[in-house]
Amino acid sequence: MSSDKRTQVLIVEDDLALQKQIKWSLDAFDAVTADDRESALNQLRRHAPPVVTMDLGLPPDADGTAEGFRLLEQTLAAAPDTKVIVLTGQNGEANALKAVAMGAYDFLAKPFEPEVLNLTIERAFRLHELQRENQRLQAMHQPDALGGLVTRDPQVLRVCRTIEKVANSGATVMLLGESGTGKEVLARGLHQSSNRKGERFVAINCAAIPENLLESELFGYEKGAFTGAAKTTVGKIETAHRGTLMLDEIGDLPMPLQAKLLRFLQERVIERVGGRQEIPVDVRIVCATHQDLKQLTTVARFREDLYYRLAEIVVQIPPLRDRVGDPALLAHAFVRRFSQEQNRRSLSLSEDALRAIEVHRWPGNIRELENCIKRAVIMAEGNQITADDLGLPLGLEDVAEPSLDLRAVRDEAEKKAVIAALSRANGNVLKAAEMLGVSRPTLYDLMHRLGLK
Ligand SMILES: Nc1ncnc2c1ncn2[C@@H]1O[C@H](COP(=O)(O)OP(=O)(O)OP(=O)(O)O)[C@@H](O)[C@H]1O
Ligand SMILES: [Mg+2]
Repeated sequence: MSSDKRTQVLIVEDDLALQKQIKWSLDAFDAVTADDRESALNQLRRHAPPVVTMDLGLPPDADGTAEGFRLLEQTLAAAPDTKVIVLTGQNGEANALKAVAMGAYDFLAKPFEPEVLNLTIERAFRLHELQRENQRLQAMHQPDALGGLVTRDPQVLRVCRTIEKVANSGATVMLLGESGTGKEVLARGLHQSSNRKGERFVAINCAAIPENLLESELFGYEKGAFTGAAKTTVGKIETAHRGTLMLDEIGDLPMPLQAKLLRFLQERVIERVGGRQEIPVDVRIVCATHQDLKQLTTVARFREDLYYRLAEIVVQIPPLRDRVGDPALLAHAFVRRFSQEQNRRSLSLSEDALRAIEVHRWPGNIRELENCIKRAVIMAEGNQITADDLGLPLGLEDVAEPSLDLRAVRDEAEKKAVIAALSRANGNVLKAAEMLGVSRPTLYDLMHRLGLK
Protein backbone atom coordinates (compact mmCIF):
# COMPACT_ATOMS: atom_id res chain seq x y z
CA MET A 1 0.00 0.00 0.00
CA SER A 2 1.00 3.59 -0.33
CA SER A 3 3.49 4.86 2.17
CA ASP A 4 3.80 8.42 3.41
CA LYS A 5 1.37 10.27 1.17
CA ARG A 6 2.78 13.72 1.74
CA THR A 7 5.99 13.15 -0.10
CA GLN A 8 4.73 10.95 -2.88
CA VAL A 9 5.37 12.13 -6.41
CA LEU A 10 4.23 10.51 -9.63
CA ILE A 11 6.56 10.64 -12.61
CA VAL A 12 4.81 10.25 -15.95
CA GLU A 13 7.44 9.69 -18.63
CA ASP A 14 7.44 7.25 -21.53
CA ASP A 15 11.18 7.45 -22.14
CA LEU A 16 12.20 4.78 -19.66
CA ALA A 17 15.83 5.90 -19.42
CA LEU A 18 14.76 9.41 -18.61
CA GLN A 19 12.11 8.10 -16.22
CA LYS A 20 14.78 6.22 -14.32
CA GLN A 21 17.04 9.23 -14.28
CA ILE A 22 14.31 11.48 -12.89
CA LYS A 23 13.36 8.94 -10.27
CA TRP A 24 16.97 8.63 -9.27
CA SER A 25 17.40 12.37 -8.90
CA LEU A 26 14.32 12.56 -6.69
CA ASP A 27 15.66 10.33 -3.95
CA ALA A 28 14.30 12.66 -1.28
CA PHE A 29 10.79 11.75 -2.38
CA ASP A 30 8.77 8.61 -2.61
CA ALA A 31 8.51 8.41 -6.40
CA VAL A 32 6.14 6.18 -8.34
CA THR A 33 6.14 5.99 -12.12
CA ALA A 34 3.89 5.59 -15.13
CA ASP A 35 4.65 5.48 -18.84
CA ASP A 36 1.31 6.27 -20.43
CA ARG A 37 -1.98 7.96 -19.66
CA GLU A 38 -3.79 4.88 -18.49
CA SER A 39 -1.10 3.68 -16.12
CA ALA A 40 -0.80 7.24 -14.82
CA LEU A 41 -4.53 7.32 -14.04
CA ASN A 42 -4.18 4.04 -12.20
CA GLN A 43 -1.30 5.35 -10.14
CA LEU A 44 -3.30 8.48 -9.37
CA ARG A 45 -6.24 6.44 -8.16
CA ARG A 46 -4.00 4.21 -6.17
CA HIS A 47 -1.66 6.67 -4.49
CA ALA A 48 -3.33 10.07 -4.87
CA PRO A 49 0.12 11.74 -5.07
CA PRO A 50 0.06 15.46 -4.24
CA VAL A 51 2.63 16.21 -6.96
CA VAL A 52 2.94 14.86 -10.51
CA THR A 53 5.60 15.51 -13.12
CA MET A 54 4.31 14.96 -16.59
CA ASP A 55 5.74 14.58 -20.05
CA LEU A 56 3.18 15.77 -22.61
CA GLY A 57 4.27 13.43 -25.40
CA LEU A 58 2.88 10.08 -24.37
CA PRO A 59 2.11 6.98 -26.43
CA PRO A 60 0.33 6.41 -28.71
CA ASP A 61 0.93 10.08 -29.58
CA ALA A 62 4.53 10.34 -28.36
CA ASP A 63 5.39 13.10 -30.81
CA GLY A 64 2.28 15.15 -30.16
CA THR A 65 0.75 16.54 -26.98
CA ALA A 66 -2.84 15.28 -27.14
CA GLU A 67 -2.36 12.42 -24.66
CA GLY A 68 -0.50 14.65 -22.23
CA PHE A 69 -3.15 17.35 -22.25
CA ARG A 70 -5.85 14.76 -21.83
CA LEU A 71 -4.04 13.29 -18.86
CA LEU A 72 -3.56 16.75 -17.37
CA GLU A 73 -7.25 17.43 -17.73
CA GLN A 74 -8.26 14.10 -16.21
CA THR A 75 -5.80 14.45 -13.35
CA LEU A 76 -7.14 17.85 -12.36
CA ALA A 77 -10.73 16.71 -12.81
CA ALA A 78 -10.19 13.78 -10.46
CA ALA A 79 -8.04 15.60 -7.91
CA PRO A 80 -8.10 19.37 -8.46
CA ASP A 81 -5.50 19.99 -5.75
CA THR A 82 -2.81 17.95 -7.50
CA LYS A 83 0.23 20.03 -8.39
CA VAL A 84 1.23 19.07 -11.91
CA ILE A 85 4.65 20.06 -13.21
CA VAL A 86 4.83 19.75 -16.98
CA LEU A 87 8.14 18.80 -18.53
CA THR A 88 8.31 20.10 -22.07
CA GLY A 89 10.62 19.34 -24.97
CA GLN A 90 12.42 21.89 -27.08
CA ASN A 91 10.38 24.93 -28.17
CA GLY A 92 7.66 23.82 -25.83
CA GLU A 93 6.79 27.30 -24.65
CA ALA A 94 3.32 27.44 -26.21
CA ASN A 95 2.47 24.05 -24.76
CA ALA A 96 3.78 25.06 -21.37
CA LEU A 97 1.58 28.14 -21.35
CA LYS A 98 -1.41 26.13 -22.46
CA ALA A 99 -0.76 23.62 -19.67
CA VAL A 100 -0.56 26.35 -17.06
CA ALA A 101 -3.75 27.88 -18.42
CA MET A 102 -5.40 24.49 -17.96
CA GLY A 103 -4.34 24.42 -14.33
CA ALA A 104 -0.85 22.94 -14.28
CA TYR A 105 1.21 24.24 -11.37
CA ASP A 106 4.45 24.91 -13.24
CA PHE A 107 6.60 23.79 -16.16
CA LEU A 108 10.25 23.00 -16.83
CA ALA A 109 11.97 22.73 -20.20
CA LYS A 110 14.01 19.61 -20.86
CA PRO A 111 16.85 19.14 -20.23
CA PHE A 112 16.55 20.44 -16.70
CA GLU A 113 18.86 20.54 -13.73
CA PRO A 114 17.99 17.96 -11.06
CA GLU A 115 18.31 20.65 -8.38
CA VAL A 116 15.79 22.85 -10.16
CA LEU A 117 13.36 19.95 -10.44
CA ASN A 118 13.81 19.10 -6.78
CA LEU A 119 13.23 22.68 -5.78
CA THR A 120 10.13 22.98 -7.95
CA ILE A 121 8.68 19.81 -6.48
CA GLU A 122 9.55 20.93 -2.97
CA ARG A 123 7.64 24.19 -3.52
CA ALA A 124 4.70 22.33 -5.01
CA PHE A 125 4.52 20.12 -1.93
CA ARG A 126 4.61 23.10 0.36
CA LEU A 127 1.76 24.78 -1.50
CA HIS A 128 -0.24 21.57 -1.49
CA GLU A 129 0.33 21.16 2.22
CA LEU A 130 -0.82 24.71 2.91
CA GLN A 131 -3.96 24.19 0.87
CA ARG A 132 -4.74 20.95 2.68
CA GLU A 133 -4.22 22.67 6.02
CA ASN A 134 -6.52 25.45 4.93
CA GLN A 135 -9.21 22.98 3.91
CA ARG A 136 -8.88 21.17 7.21
CA LEU A 137 -9.33 24.44 9.08
CA GLN A 138 -12.33 25.35 6.98
CA ALA A 139 -13.89 21.94 7.52
CA MET A 140 -13.39 22.34 11.25
CA HIS A 141 -15.14 25.68 11.22
CA GLN A 142 -18.09 24.27 9.38
CA PRO A 143 -19.87 22.94 12.42
CA ASP A 144 -22.64 21.14 10.63
CA ALA A 145 -21.89 18.77 7.79
CA LEU A 146 -25.58 18.23 7.25
CA GLY A 147 -26.05 21.97 6.98
CA GLY A 148 -27.10 21.91 3.32
CA LEU A 149 -29.98 19.68 4.21
CA VAL A 150 -33.29 21.48 4.26
CA THR A 151 -35.88 20.11 6.63
CA ARG A 152 -38.08 20.96 9.56
CA ASP A 153 -39.63 17.56 9.87
CA PRO A 154 -39.12 15.98 13.30
CA GLN A 155 -38.45 12.54 11.82
CA VAL A 156 -35.78 13.81 9.44
CA LEU A 157 -34.21 15.92 12.18
CA ARG A 158 -33.98 12.77 14.25
CA VAL A 159 -32.31 11.01 11.31
CA CYS A 160 -29.74 13.83 11.13
CA ARG A 161 -29.01 13.56 14.83
CA THR A 162 -28.52 9.81 14.48
CA ILE A 163 -26.12 10.33 11.59
CA GLU A 164 -24.08 12.83 13.57
CA LYS A 165 -24.03 10.61 16.62
CA VAL A 166 -22.79 7.50 14.82
CA ALA A 167 -20.44 9.37 12.48
CA ASN A 168 -17.28 8.71 14.45
CA SER A 169 -18.18 5.21 15.60
CA GLY A 170 -17.05 3.53 12.40
CA ALA A 171 -20.20 1.40 12.53
CA THR A 172 -21.70 0.26 9.26
CA VAL A 173 -24.76 2.30 8.43
CA MET A 174 -27.71 1.18 6.33
CA LEU A 175 -29.83 3.91 4.80
CA LEU A 176 -33.31 2.84 3.76
CA GLY A 177 -35.58 5.11 1.80
CA GLU A 178 -37.42 5.59 -1.44
CA SER A 179 -35.72 6.94 -4.51
CA GLY A 180 -34.85 10.62 -4.20
CA THR A 181 -35.21 10.86 -0.41
CA GLY A 182 -31.62 11.96 0.10
CA LYS A 183 -29.75 8.74 0.79
CA GLU A 184 -26.63 9.96 -0.94
CA VAL A 185 -26.84 13.35 0.73
CA LEU A 186 -26.97 11.65 4.12
CA ALA A 187 -24.17 9.24 3.26
CA ARG A 188 -21.95 12.20 2.34
CA GLY A 189 -23.08 13.98 5.49
CA LEU A 190 -22.03 10.94 7.51
CA HIS A 191 -18.60 10.99 5.89
CA GLN A 192 -18.22 14.74 6.41
CA SER A 193 -19.21 14.47 10.08
CA SER A 194 -16.74 11.66 10.69
CA ASN A 195 -13.03 11.74 11.40
CA ARG A 196 -12.52 10.35 7.89
CA LYS A 197 -13.66 13.54 6.26
CA GLY A 198 -10.18 14.43 5.01
CA GLU A 199 -10.11 11.18 3.05
CA ARG A 200 -12.17 10.00 0.13
CA PHE A 201 -15.87 9.36 -0.16
CA VAL A 202 -16.38 6.76 -2.88
CA ALA A 203 -19.82 5.66 -4.07
CA ILE A 204 -20.68 2.71 -6.24
CA ASN A 205 -24.14 1.94 -7.54
CA CYS A 206 -24.58 -1.82 -7.51
CA ALA A 207 -27.65 -1.60 -9.75
CA ALA A 208 -26.02 0.46 -12.47
CA ILE A 209 -23.10 -1.84 -13.27
CA PRO A 210 -23.55 -5.11 -15.20
CA GLU A 211 -23.08 -8.16 -13.02
CA ASN A 212 -19.99 -9.40 -14.85
CA LEU A 213 -18.19 -6.07 -14.35
CA LEU A 214 -19.24 -5.41 -10.80
CA GLU A 215 -16.70 -7.69 -9.18
CA SER A 216 -13.73 -6.01 -10.85
CA GLU A 217 -15.25 -2.58 -10.15
CA LEU A 218 -15.41 -3.41 -6.47
CA PHE A 219 -12.27 -5.44 -5.97
CA GLY A 220 -10.07 -4.35 -8.89
CA TYR A 221 -8.11 -6.73 -11.08
CA GLU A 222 -4.57 -7.76 -11.87
CA LYS A 223 -3.07 -7.34 -15.30
CA GLY A 224 -3.98 -10.36 -17.41
CA ALA A 225 -6.78 -11.52 -15.11
CA PHE A 226 -9.08 -11.73 -18.12
CA THR A 227 -9.05 -10.69 -21.78
CA GLY A 228 -8.85 -6.92 -21.87
CA ALA A 229 -7.21 -6.64 -18.45
CA ALA A 230 -4.22 -4.80 -19.86
CA LYS A 231 -3.29 -3.04 -16.63
CA THR A 232 -3.63 -3.78 -12.97
CA THR A 233 -6.56 -1.70 -11.83
CA VAL A 234 -7.60 -0.72 -8.35
CA GLY A 235 -11.23 -1.31 -7.35
CA LYS A 236 -13.61 1.00 -5.52
CA ILE A 237 -13.06 -0.63 -2.14
CA GLU A 238 -9.33 -0.07 -2.34
CA THR A 239 -9.82 3.45 -3.68
CA ALA A 240 -11.81 4.31 -0.57
CA HIS A 241 -8.97 3.21 1.72
CA ARG A 242 -9.09 5.25 4.95
CA GLY A 243 -12.28 6.93 3.74
CA THR A 244 -15.92 5.98 3.33
CA LEU A 245 -17.39 3.59 0.78
CA MET A 246 -21.04 3.92 -0.17
CA LEU A 247 -22.61 0.78 -1.58
CA ASP A 248 -25.68 2.18 -3.25
CA GLU A 249 -28.61 -0.08 -4.20
CA ILE A 250 -27.07 -2.87 -2.17
CA GLY A 251 -30.27 -4.90 -2.67
CA ASP A 252 -29.17 -5.44 -6.27
CA LEU A 253 -25.86 -7.04 -5.34
CA PRO A 254 -25.77 -10.49 -7.03
CA MET A 255 -25.51 -13.52 -4.74
CA PRO A 256 -21.90 -14.51 -5.59
CA LEU A 257 -20.74 -10.99 -4.81
CA GLN A 258 -22.70 -10.97 -1.58
CA ALA A 259 -20.47 -13.83 -0.48
CA LYS A 260 -17.33 -11.94 -1.47
CA LEU A 261 -18.48 -8.75 0.21
CA LEU A 262 -19.29 -10.68 3.38
CA ARG A 263 -15.81 -12.09 3.38
CA PHE A 264 -14.36 -8.62 3.01
CA LEU A 265 -16.46 -7.32 5.90
CA GLN A 266 -15.25 -10.16 8.10
CA GLU A 267 -11.58 -10.15 7.17
CA ARG A 268 -11.13 -6.54 5.99
CA VAL A 269 -8.79 -7.69 3.25
CA ILE A 270 -9.45 -7.88 -0.47
CA GLU A 271 -8.02 -9.88 -3.29
CA ARG A 272 -8.08 -8.31 -6.72
CA VAL A 273 -9.57 -10.43 -9.49
CA GLY A 274 -6.77 -12.65 -10.76
CA GLY A 275 -4.60 -11.70 -7.80
CA ARG A 276 -3.21 -13.83 -5.04
CA GLN A 277 -2.19 -11.18 -2.61
CA GLU A 278 -4.42 -10.18 0.29
CA ILE A 279 -4.56 -6.41 0.57
CA PRO A 280 -5.76 -4.93 3.85
CA VAL A 281 -8.23 -2.10 3.37
CA ASP A 282 -9.65 0.22 6.00
CA VAL A 283 -13.02 1.61 4.95
CA ARG A 284 -16.17 2.80 6.64
CA ILE A 285 -19.13 1.22 4.87
CA VAL A 286 -22.44 2.89 4.34
CA CYS A 287 -25.00 1.12 2.22
CA ALA A 288 -28.33 2.23 0.83
CA THR A 289 -31.34 0.77 -0.89
CA HIS A 290 -34.92 1.60 -1.76
CA GLN A 291 -35.85 -2.07 -1.40
CA ASP A 292 -37.13 -3.92 1.62
CA LEU A 293 -33.87 -5.68 2.36
CA LYS A 294 -35.16 -7.63 5.34
CA GLN A 295 -37.90 -9.03 3.17
CA LEU A 296 -35.36 -9.95 0.48
CA THR A 297 -33.60 -12.15 3.04
CA THR A 298 -36.80 -14.12 3.61
CA VAL A 299 -37.08 -14.96 -0.10
CA ALA A 300 -33.37 -15.85 -0.30
CA ARG A 301 -32.43 -12.93 -2.55
CA PHE A 302 -30.22 -11.38 0.07
CA ARG A 303 -27.97 -13.25 2.48
CA GLU A 304 -29.15 -12.96 6.01
CA ASP A 305 -25.63 -13.04 7.45
CA LEU A 306 -24.63 -10.18 5.16
CA TYR A 307 -27.75 -8.29 6.13
CA TYR A 308 -26.80 -8.39 9.79
CA ARG A 309 -23.22 -7.37 9.04
CA LEU A 310 -24.47 -4.33 7.16
CA ALA A 311 -27.35 -3.44 9.44
CA GLU A 312 -25.33 -2.31 12.45
CA ILE A 313 -27.17 0.99 12.37
CA VAL A 314 -30.34 1.14 10.29
CA VAL A 315 -31.66 4.54 9.34
CA GLN A 316 -35.10 4.82 7.81
CA ILE A 317 -35.53 7.98 5.74
CA PRO A 318 -39.16 9.07 5.43
CA PRO A 319 -40.58 9.87 1.99
CA LEU A 320 -41.27 13.51 1.23
CA ARG A 321 -45.05 13.09 1.41
CA ASP A 322 -44.72 12.08 5.09
CA ARG A 323 -42.62 15.08 6.03
CA VAL A 324 -44.80 17.76 7.49
CA GLY A 325 -44.11 21.14 5.91
CA ASP A 326 -41.00 20.07 4.04
CA PRO A 327 -42.44 20.21 0.51
CA ALA A 328 -43.15 23.95 0.80
CA LEU A 329 -39.92 24.63 2.67
CA LEU A 330 -37.82 22.80 0.09
CA ALA A 331 -39.75 24.46 -2.73
CA HIS A 332 -38.84 27.92 -1.35
CA ALA A 333 -35.21 26.85 -1.02
CA PHE A 334 -35.07 25.48 -4.56
CA VAL A 335 -36.77 28.56 -6.02
CA ARG A 336 -34.12 30.71 -4.38
CA ARG A 337 -31.28 28.50 -5.58
CA PHE A 338 -32.47 28.16 -9.17
CA SER A 339 -33.49 31.79 -9.62
CA GLN A 340 -29.98 32.73 -8.56
CA GLU A 341 -28.50 30.22 -10.99
CA GLN A 342 -30.74 31.51 -13.78
CA ASN A 343 -30.10 35.12 -12.83
CA ARG A 344 -33.79 35.71 -12.27
CA ARG A 345 -34.73 38.21 -9.64
CA SER A 346 -37.19 37.61 -6.78
CA LEU A 347 -39.33 34.80 -8.09
CA SER A 348 -41.93 33.59 -5.64
CA LEU A 349 -44.47 30.79 -5.40
CA SER A 350 -48.13 31.63 -5.81
CA GLU A 351 -50.78 30.46 -3.33
CA ASP A 352 -52.10 27.81 -5.69
CA ALA A 353 -48.56 26.61 -6.43
CA LEU A 354 -47.91 26.11 -2.72
CA ARG A 355 -51.20 24.30 -2.27
CA ALA A 356 -50.44 22.03 -5.23
CA ILE A 357 -46.99 21.30 -3.80
CA GLU A 358 -48.48 20.40 -0.44
CA VAL A 359 -51.02 17.93 -1.76
CA HIS A 360 -48.91 16.27 -4.44
CA ARG A 361 -47.68 12.79 -3.45
CA TRP A 362 -44.11 13.25 -4.78
CA PRO A 363 -43.37 9.64 -5.73
CA GLY A 364 -39.91 10.75 -6.88
CA ASN A 365 -39.45 12.61 -3.61
CA ILE A 366 -36.97 15.47 -3.34
CA ARG A 367 -35.39 14.83 -6.68
CA GLU A 368 -38.80 15.15 -8.33
CA LEU A 369 -39.54 18.37 -6.46
CA GLU A 370 -36.11 19.74 -7.34
CA ASN A 371 -36.62 19.02 -11.05
CA CYS A 372 -40.14 20.37 -10.98
CA ILE A 373 -39.01 23.69 -9.48
CA LYS A 374 -36.04 23.92 -11.78
CA ARG A 375 -38.30 23.60 -14.81
CA ALA A 376 -40.79 26.06 -13.38
CA VAL A 377 -38.11 28.68 -12.70
CA ILE A 378 -37.10 28.47 -16.33
CA MET A 379 -40.70 28.48 -17.59
CA ALA A 380 -42.26 31.10 -15.32
CA GLU A 381 -43.18 34.27 -17.17
CA GLY A 382 -44.07 36.79 -14.48
CA ASN A 383 -42.34 36.99 -11.14
CA GLN A 384 -44.59 34.32 -9.66
CA ILE A 385 -44.53 30.59 -10.20
CA THR A 386 -48.04 29.22 -10.55
CA ALA A 387 -49.38 25.68 -10.20
CA ASP A 388 -49.59 25.71 -13.93
CA ASP A 389 -45.86 26.44 -14.27
CA LEU A 390 -45.21 23.47 -12.00
CA GLY A 391 -47.32 21.23 -14.19
CA LEU A 392 -49.06 19.95 -11.07
CA PRO A 393 -52.77 19.26 -10.76
CA LEU A 394 -54.58 21.18 -8.04
CA GLY A 395 -54.82 17.92 -6.07
CA LEU A 396 -57.64 16.55 -3.99
CA GLU A 397 -57.79 16.74 -0.20
CA ASP A 398 -55.77 14.28 1.82
CA VAL A 399 -57.59 11.38 3.41
CA ALA A 400 -57.77 12.04 7.15
CA GLU A 401 -56.35 9.46 9.52
CA PRO A 402 -59.01 8.08 11.82
CA SER A 403 -58.29 8.73 15.48
CA LEU A 404 -60.86 9.15 18.22
CA ASP A 405 -58.76 10.84 20.91
CA LEU A 406 -59.95 14.41 20.50
CA ARG A 407 -57.03 16.00 22.25
CA ALA A 408 -54.52 14.05 20.18
CA VAL A 409 -56.45 14.86 17.03
CA ARG A 410 -56.45 18.55 17.91
CA ASP A 411 -52.75 18.61 18.79
CA GLU A 412 -51.86 16.79 15.63
CA ALA A 413 -54.00 19.08 13.50
CA GLU A 414 -52.58 22.18 15.18
CA LYS A 415 -49.05 20.94 14.77
CA LYS A 416 -49.58 20.26 11.08
CA ALA A 417 -51.17 23.66 10.54
CA VAL A 418 -48.38 25.47 12.38
CA ILE A 419 -45.62 23.65 10.53
CA ALA A 420 -47.41 24.16 7.22
CA ALA A 421 -47.86 27.87 7.87
CA LEU A 422 -44.25 28.32 8.96
CA SER A 423 -43.04 26.47 5.89
CA ARG A 424 -45.24 28.45 3.56
CA ALA A 425 -44.07 31.64 5.15
CA ASN A 426 -40.50 30.41 4.78
CA GLY A 427 -39.94 30.65 8.54
CA ASN A 428 -41.37 34.13 8.97
CA VAL A 429 -43.31 33.89 12.24
CA LEU A 430 -45.29 37.09 11.75
CA LYS A 431 -46.53 35.97 8.34
CA ALA A 432 -47.29 32.48 9.63
CA ALA A 433 -49.30 33.95 12.51
CA GLU A 434 -51.31 36.00 10.05
CA MET A 435 -52.06 32.92 7.98
CA LEU A 436 -53.20 31.07 11.07
CA GLY A 437 -55.29 33.97 12.27
CA VAL A 438 -53.52 34.26 15.64
CA SER A 439 -51.19 36.82 17.19
CA ARG A 440 -47.47 36.37 17.10
CA PRO A 441 -47.14 35.64 20.86
CA THR A 442 -49.93 33.06 20.57
CA LEU A 443 -48.06 31.37 17.77
CA TYR A 444 -44.87 31.33 19.85
CA ASP A 445 -46.82 29.74 22.70
CA LEU A 446 -48.26 27.16 20.35
CA MET A 447 -44.84 26.37 18.93
CA HIS A 448 -43.50 25.99 22.42
CA ARG A 449 -46.33 23.72 23.53
CA LEU A 450 -46.08 21.55 20.42
CA GLY A 451 -42.33 21.25 20.78
CA LEU A 452 -41.51 23.15 17.59
CA LYS A 453 -38.46 25.32 17.43
N1 LIG B 1 -33.12 17.55 2.76
C1 LIG B 1 -32.66 17.97 1.58
N2 LIG B 1 -32.44 19.28 1.36
C2 LIG B 1 -32.04 19.72 0.17
N3 LIG B 1 -31.81 18.93 -0.90
C3 LIG B 1 -31.98 17.62 -0.75
C4 LIG B 1 -32.40 17.06 0.50
N4 LIG B 1 -32.49 15.72 0.36
C5 LIG B 1 -32.17 15.45 -0.93
N5 LIG B 1 -31.85 16.57 -1.60
C6 LIG B 1 -31.52 16.66 -3.04
O1 LIG B 1 -32.39 15.77 -3.70
C7 LIG B 1 -31.73 15.03 -4.70
C8 LIG B 1 -31.85 13.55 -4.43
O2 LIG B 1 -31.06 13.20 -3.30
P1 LIG B 1 -30.17 11.88 -3.27
O3 LIG B 1 -29.47 11.68 -4.56
O4 LIG B 1 -29.35 11.93 -2.05
O5 LIG B 1 -31.33 10.79 -3.12
P2 LIG B 1 -31.23 9.21 -3.14
O6 LIG B 1 -32.09 8.74 -2.03
O7 LIG B 1 -29.81 8.78 -3.16
O8 LIG B 1 -31.95 8.87 -4.51
P3 LIG B 1 -31.82 7.54 -5.43
O9 LIG B 1 -32.42 6.43 -4.66
O10 LIG B 1 -32.65 7.95 -6.62
O11 LIG B 1 -30.40 7.38 -5.73
C9 LIG B 1 -30.32 15.55 -4.73
O12 LIG B 1 -30.19 16.51 -5.72
C10 LIG B 1 -30.13 16.15 -3.35
O13 LIG B 1 -29.20 17.20 -3.39
MG1 LIG C 1 -28.72 7.71 -4.70
